[in-house]
Amino acid sequence: MLALHEVHTHYGLAHILSGVSMEVRRGEVVALLGRNGAGKTTTLKTVMGLVTPTSGAVRLGDEEITGRPPYRIARAGVGYVPEDRRIFTELTVRENLEVGRQPPREGCPVWTEDRVFELFPALAEMRDRLGGQMSGGEQQMLTIARTLMGNPAVILLDEPSEGLAPVIVEQMARAISELKREGLTVLLSEQNLPFCSAVSDRAYIIEKGVIRYEGPMQELLARPQVLEAYLSV
Ligand SMILES: Nc1ncnc2c1ncn2[C@@H]1O[C@H](COP(=O)(O)OP(=O)(O)OP(=O)(O)O)[C@@H](O)[C@H]1O
Ligand SMILES: [Mg+2]
Repeated sequence: MLALHEVHTHYGLAHILSGVSMEVRRGEVVALLGRNGAGKTTTLKTVMGLVTPTSGAVRLGDEEITGRPPYRIARAGVGYVPEDRRIFTELTVRENLEVGRQPPREGCPVWTEDRVFELFPALAEMRDRLGGQMSGGEQQMLTIARTLMGNPAVILLDEPSEGLAPVIVEQMARAISELKREGLTVLLSEQNLPFCSAVSDRAYIIEKGVIRYEGPMQELLARPQVLEAYLSV
């Protein structure tokens, strides 16, 4: 569904991604794990077209999307939830959702306001509240919900559990498992290993812009040396 092939990305002269190859199959939840500064956000931004790779290719289904502008990549079916929650603070929850609404996309789950409220019951209870009056965790849910209103085929989540209270992390894990059941393809970046192990089918570990590990999530959990070498565990 989504594939990166030998992607190199620079910020100015700084070589950030050095030949990143990864694949997310249809309906899979894949975790991209790595420490601070490893290149997780840069990888997601490269997929989304927010930074242009210096070489390599990004494919969505049969289409090569490398170097396209972000709005075209979004239109092709990629939803992106950045690490800083970008909601409209002066709009209500429902108005925020309305902003994200796009026509249904063939072969993708179709989301309505009611369906995203089923996914995130906490949002349903505050549907008329202003975005600016929500907690960080609630804003994170709203950002994901608004992205779903675009009916994406693939959703990129940048550290969805970061900074959330434990009870909200659990709700987030449940929501991601629900997205998988709906048939959505998910690529998430994370540093939270227990969270990833609860939701992901497979994992990649990135360190200094290089993929160091690739395999089923359960196999990674059985490799303490790998976890110790590349993650903060
Ligand atoms: N706009 C930028 N200009 C220059 N260097 C950048 C820029 N954004 C990120 N970097 C550098 O690129 C490297 C990778 O950053 P990136 O944000 O992808 O890491 P990350 O894995 O998402 O980290 P974190 O867990 O802290 O979010 C870091 O060394 C960072 O300092
Ligand atoms: Mg990041």
